[in-house]
This record gives sequence, structure tokens and C-alpha cells, in this order.
Amino acid sequence: MPMFTRFRTSLAVLAASGLSACVFVHATDSSSGDSKHAHGSGLRASARIEARSGSTLAGSATFTEQKGGVLVEVTVSNAPPGWHAVHVHEKGDCSAADGSSAGTHFNPAGHKHGSPHASEHHAGDLGNMWVDEKGNGHHVLLMPALAVADGPNSVRGRAIIVHAAADDLVTDPTGNAGGRIGCGVIQ
Ligand code: CU
Ligand code: ZN
Repeated sequence: MPMFTRFRTSLAVLAASGLSACVFVHATDSSSGDSKHAHGSGLRASARIEARSGSTLAGSATFTEQKGGVLVEVTVSNAPPGWHAVHVHEKGDCSAADGSSAGTHFNPAGHKHGSPHASEHHAGDLGNMWVDEKGNGHHVLLMPALAVADGPNSVRGRAIIVHAAADDLVTDPTGNAGGRIGCGVIQ
């Protein structure tokens, strides 16, 4: 029940704060002339998150296109308790033992790093996920600047990364979030 309440609250806040970015995304989509690719299509992508950098973390992520953007849901278990940065990184390559093969934060608009709730941030900046004392974490947010459909903002073919430390939500371009303890290719 608390999870449901928090979920509803974050959606309401994001819906209010994300309107300008949402308009931009829709303008971009409409230029393709392909109505299938509009938001609200329910198009979905997912990733299985695997341990990196010697961690024991396991998890998954889903990305669902809906009105106002892409609903991102990340779930992890066996992770170190505390706050952990979560980002979409530009390359869908988790082959490196330290996750470095996934490259930098997904940033199709050429923005500076920041909080997903700030006026400027990378499209892939998903903020911080809380992991409880049992090692379980769940992170849900609506991202107006992401897409699942093919195009410059699409998450498909990219990677989701969970970091060892919290994102300070300011330091450009990394958020000073430490190593990469989880990685999953989004498909
Ligand atoms: Cu990252
Ligand atoms: Zn970033």
C-alpha cells in the first residue's frame, strides 16, 4: 500500500513538472509522420540486469511508452543497502566486467547531467533507487524525454546501469556515482 501511494504521487508530480519536455517529444514524434510511434502506444522494452564489478546484484527493468513519456520500473535484489544511481547508458553492451562497455549516460539532446526532476538532465538520468536492508530495491518514474519506439530518444539497444553509490544529481557528466554494479541490455 505505501508503494502504491508513492507511485501515484511520483506520477502526479512528474506529470506536472514534465509538460514542456513532453511537448518537445511529441513535436519530434509527429515529424516522423508515423502515428504508430506516438506516445501512449504501450510499446514496451525490457532488460535483465546482471551483476558487474564483483557485486551479487540481480534485477530487471521495464520501459513502457504511455501518455507523457516512458514509465520506467527497475527492480533489484541482493544489492548493497542504500541509495544507488540508476541511468540509461548509451551503448547496449554489458560485456565488460566493470560495465564500462556501456559508455556514458544516454544524452541525445546534449544536455548536462542532473536530476530527472531538474529542468536540464541527460535523457538517461533516472535518479536514485533506495535499496533496503534486505537488498531489495524498486524504482518507478515517468521519463518524458525517453521513447521505446525507434528514434533518437529510444531506449532500445542501450543499457541500464545501477551504480555502487548515489548520484549527487549535479556533477557533470557522471553524477559521481562510483562503479557499475549492475548492467542490462535494453531490448
Ligand atoms: Cu550511470
Ligand atoms: Zn547523466
